[in-house]
Amino acid sequence: MLKIKPNLGILDIALYEAGSAPKPEEQNVIKLSSNENPYGPSRKSIDAITRHAAEVHLYPSTNHLELRQSISARFGLSDKNIICGVGSDEIISFLCQAFAGPGDEVIHTEHGFAMYKISTLAAGAKPVEVRENNRYTDVDAILEACSKRTKLIFIANPNNPTSTMIDAREVHRLADGIPGNCILVLDGAYAEYVPNFDGGASLIHKRENVFMTRTFSKMYGLGGLRIGWGYGSRHVIDILNRIRGPFNLSTLALAAANSALTDVDYVTRCRNENSRLREWLSNSLTNLGIESDKSYANFILARFEGSEDASACYKFMKNEGLLVRQVANYNLPNCLRITIGDEAACKRVYESIRNFLESVK
Ligand SMILES: Cc1ncc(COP(=O)(O)O)c(C=O)c1O
Repeated sequence: MLKIKPNLGILDIALYEAGSAPKPEEQNVIKLSSNENPYGPSRKSIDAITRHAAEVHLYPSTNHLELRQSISARFGLSDKNIICGVGSDEIISFLCQAFAGPGDEVIHTEHGFAMYKISTLAAGAKPVEVRENNRYTDVDAILEACSKRTKLIFIANPNNPTSTMIDAREVHRLADGIPGNCILVLDGAYAEYVPNFDGGASLIHKRENVFMTRTFSKMYGLGGLRIGWGYGSRHVIDILNRIRGPFNLSTLALAAANSALTDVDYVTRCRNENSRLREWLSNSLTNLGIESDKSYANFILARFEGSEDASACYKFMKNEGLLVRQVANYNLPNCLRITIGDEAACKRVYESIRNFLESVK
């Protein structure tokens, strides 16, 4: 027996499975497995990285003031209510570390993002999985699952991997119904894909126990640099800052994120292109008999007749150089999550699925 043992919960963590990526020698393979922006980062971010490259012998900012002020200016939020992290993953981890421990419960939904459960277990707390209503967040089910041990509730809106979204009324109803000592976390990783959506920020202005997480990994095309942020009450931000490493974000990450926020036209173009191709792909697949829920994000969740069909289609597409995401570990074994790529990628996806369906007729 090994004498060295980890803390409670750590050995219950199933390793995070990332979307598969092309091998370096593979040509003409398209990665549609991690909901990345197919157009890459804005030219302004690339230029900022180049400009700051010669400064990397210096430690970066500790308080991220410039980035927090840019976020504040862009979204109309107070910079004092913002914290930046190494991806929104790090903010999720801070929340669990700071507010949940042994004996506490953390709610996530049936098909919720994997990091909620991983960070909960890492903090020694108990993850509580709540059923969804046909792949939609079920507010009543969450309210029923709340107990005096509940410390955090995570919902992504839009949700990954389902792509569905609940409306502001439902989010308000949830915020109104939860116990006062429990924090509702609204994960807005895909908020930029929803026109005129604030990710739930306006709700936070009125409540101390609602928190929002956001990321530069999706719409801003900066997943490789790992930048996310959180927005909440001054009290909660102060607590999270106490456990944040002093230099958690690199100089290049800060510069790229800062510049990304100035390129509003780029975001508008990416959002419009995503919406256009998403509607085209989901309608075209529906015509082939492959249904998906209305998506509010940069991916669709294609539903097959059964798990065997989904697996067979995954392999078929992989052989054709299209890497999509299997989501059996999200309790969706009959589905494939497909990132909306550029026009050529979407056409290849459509043709590949059509060929697959022909091949199994
Ligand atoms: C719902 C959701 N939240 C958070 C994240 C984490 O994003 P990041 O750590 O890159 O900011 C992701 C990434 O896929 C996601 O889908």
